[in-house]
Amino acid sequence: MNKRLILGIESSCDDTSAAVLRGTQILANITHTQLIHEAYGGVVPELASRAHIEHIVPVVKRAIETAQVSIKEIDAIAFTQGPGLMGSLVVGTSFAKGLALALNKPLIGVHHMKAHILSHYITNEGMTAPSFPYLCLTVSGGHTQIVVVHDAMNMEIIGKTIDDAAGEAFDKAAKMLGLPYPGGPLIDHYGKTGNPMAFTFAEPNIPELNFSFSGLKTSILYFLQKEVAKDPDFVALNLNDLCASIQHRITEILLKKLKKAQLQTGITCIAVSGGVSVNSELRAKLQAWQATNPKLTIHVAHPSYCTDNAAMVAITGAFLFEAGITHDQQISANAKLPW
Ligand code: KG4
Ligand code: ZN
Repeated sequence: MNKRLILGIESSCDDTSAAVLRGTQILANITHTQLIHEAYGGVVPELASRAHIEHIVPVVKRAIETAQVSIKEIDAIAFTQGPGLMGSLVVGTSFAKGLALALNKPLIGVHHMKAHILSHYITNEGMTAPSFPYLCLTVSGGHTQIVVVHDAMNMEIIGKTIDDAAGEAFDKAAKMLGLPYPGGPLIDHYGKTGNPMAFTFAEPNIPELNFSFSGLKTSILYFLQKEVAKDPDFVALNLNDLCASIQHRITEILLKKLKKAQLQTGITCIAVSGGVSVNSELRAKLQAWQATNPKLTIHVAHPSYCTDNAAMVAITGAFLFEAGITHDQQISANAKLPW
């Protein structure tokens, strides 16, 4: 990748983020995470878009300052076009379009999920790029997919969730345990000192490479209702074991399908992307898989490039720019942007 300077902007959900990329190196990656949603147990779309409006200018300014570049030096502006929350996407899209027009710079609309997948091409933090084709498990708050990445422009979904996403399963389970949103990182935290075998939750039986997490959610709910009826302090007394057991089940479901996809495709280069790829148990299971399969190369990004960030938008913009793909001022945000 040549040394072009790309400004990336991400605003698809509850993180306002801006990044500056030179070549494959991130010079700045500034993210403002909206904490306002914690009290509501999930992202409130209207509050999210208002917070994006408030933060987008200072976040972009800080990214430019941190990167120690002039905004005039930027070669192109990449932004998340979708999928995501419409009100949130509109803020980033309008800002990027306005900036591109004012500076007379090329504009590049990016697919959020493809950006998670291409985040592995960032070379900061000792990260090494996967080689094409690779198999990518993408696990976020809204998506769970297994994708064959033939190259940066050609990605094929071979498995996906038929109901909840893996991150959603973490967040909903956490909510049942009385933990605030987003619960995934808290389940990870409490689960570290718990026994993953303490409780057993339903394992879905879904054909091929697809996933389902709604049965698991119901299984956790019924189990908790039964136990709390017997002892109102059940959750508090068993929080660590509950978190470890839930985490064990979710990560097992993910690993099982990823291993199946690896066997089916024969692809030996594997990557895992999205917020849930920060999970310590998932990382431990991937490490164990790698240890017993020396033919595999498993890539897990540095945590700052797993959860929503503009660095992944910038690197995806760089790939598109290199392929000659830019957009005009007619481009608009699309909450359900097709693959
Ligand atoms: O990729 P991401 O930041 O945003 C979306 O595109 O959705 O993913 C957010 C999801 C949330 O569901 C959050 O709970 C989950 O990633 N997550 C985790 C961890 N860190 C973030 N889940 C489990 N363990 C973690 N350590
Ligand atoms: Zn995401």
